[in-house]
Amino acid sequence: MSVIALVPAAGQGVRLGGGCPKAFVELAGRTLLERSVTGLLASGVVDTVVVMVPADLLAEARRVVPGALVVAGGAERTDSVRRGLAAAGCAADDLVLVHDAARPLTPVTVVARVVDALRAGAPAVVPALPVTDTVKQVDGDVVTGTVDRAQLRAVQTPQGFVARVLLNAYTAADGIATDDAGLVERAGGTVTVVPGDPRALKITTPFDLAVAEALCREV
Ligand code: C5P
Repeated sequence: MSVIALVPAAGQGVRLGGGCPKAFVELAGRTLLERSVTGLLASGVVDTVVVMVPADLLAEARRVVPGALVVAGGAERTDSVRRGLAAAGCAADDLVLVHDAARPLTPVTVVARVVDALRAGAPAVVPALPVTDTVKQVDGDVVTGTVDRAQLRAVQTPQGFVARVLLNAYTAADGIATDDAGLVERAGGTVTVVPGDPRALKITTPFDLAVAEALCREV
């Protein structure tokens, strides 16, 4: 049973700017892509990494992450993961992690925690943090409800799956999802939560990049 990590890195990252697709933006001298792949391999629990990048950056990605299999992603994140799954050629009982290149500072302990929960028998696992803000539902600019914060979690990556479960969810999927566990939920599967980590923050905006740069200076 192998552990295969898929790294979607084919987004354009328009909200970050930076003049190139987000995964190729540098954080303290190293691209988000390199940092994310290095972190997965440093966890010691991942056997193979498959990276999905924009088609015109295949050669550049192969230079940045020589230890990974690099393939072209698709128009939506869901398409990119689908292509990574096809390239990985997983066996049904392999374990698959899906980890956004946009979370370059994810501690190795989070990766290990997700794999441990899969090995303990969970079919699908997400790392998550409690939500500290109060969350409102709105209709335009009018509040229509307040969600009970105690029942909410902010979900990170890597998300982990028994390969059979993720392959079935992607076969059943119509449309797109913002995370892979969402497709498993839609297909009726059970998703288990393990503790995430604030350092696994997702870099979306220039503010997030500044926070990540500050974290890099700390260590
Ligand atoms: O845009 P967002 O930050 O939500 O994207 C999450 C991850 O999915 C990023 O690492 C991004 O590169 C990746 N992605 C992808 N293919 C797309 C869109 C996003 O691999 N078409």
